[in-house]
Amino acid sequence: MCGELQKEQVRAIIKQQGKTKEKLLSILLAIQEASGCNYVDKKWAKLVAVELDIPLTKVYDVLTFYEMFSIKPRGKYLIEICQSAPCHVVQANSVGQMFMEELGIKMGETTWDNLFTLQYTSCFGACDLAPVAKIGDKVYGHLTREKVAQIIKNYREGARCQKQSN
Ligand code: FES
Repeated sequence: MCGELQKEQVRAIIKQQGKTKEKLLSILLAIQEASGCNYVDKKWAKLVAVELDIPLTKVYDVLTFYEMFSIKPRGKYLIEICQSAPCHVVQANSVGQMFMEELGIKMGETTWDNLFTLQYTSCFGACDLAPVAKIGDKVYGHLTREKVAQIIKNYREGARCQKQSN
């Protein structure tokens, strides 16, 4: 669940990934995934810097350079809508609009239940399926209003089942 990561867990992640500067990216990705809300808390960025013996600015360089990272909590499911040219010409904006209407949020926002965050992104190599959206590492193509509604419904149901089985 969001925000329950403990210092010892973060230390264990660093150890597991390999406590070297070269592993910085994979360490931050693993921390972000373990956070439960898709972000790297500032205190974990500091801990990583100390543990790897590198300047904190280097950690922030990585966190701010890559679109996949966030230093603010996001929804459990990050929905990324491609806005690059090939998707744009086949109505990427209207797909963004469909997700916004379905979720009742604007781009960059997170739903009240912390399940979904919506954001535009650049090409992720699924142009032949345009217009597309990516949720985690799953790609959904040839999107229509019906497909968008079904995708959201499936994720909500999946989250409900997970909650009940915990
Ligand atoms: Fe949208 Fe490539 S342009 S995935």
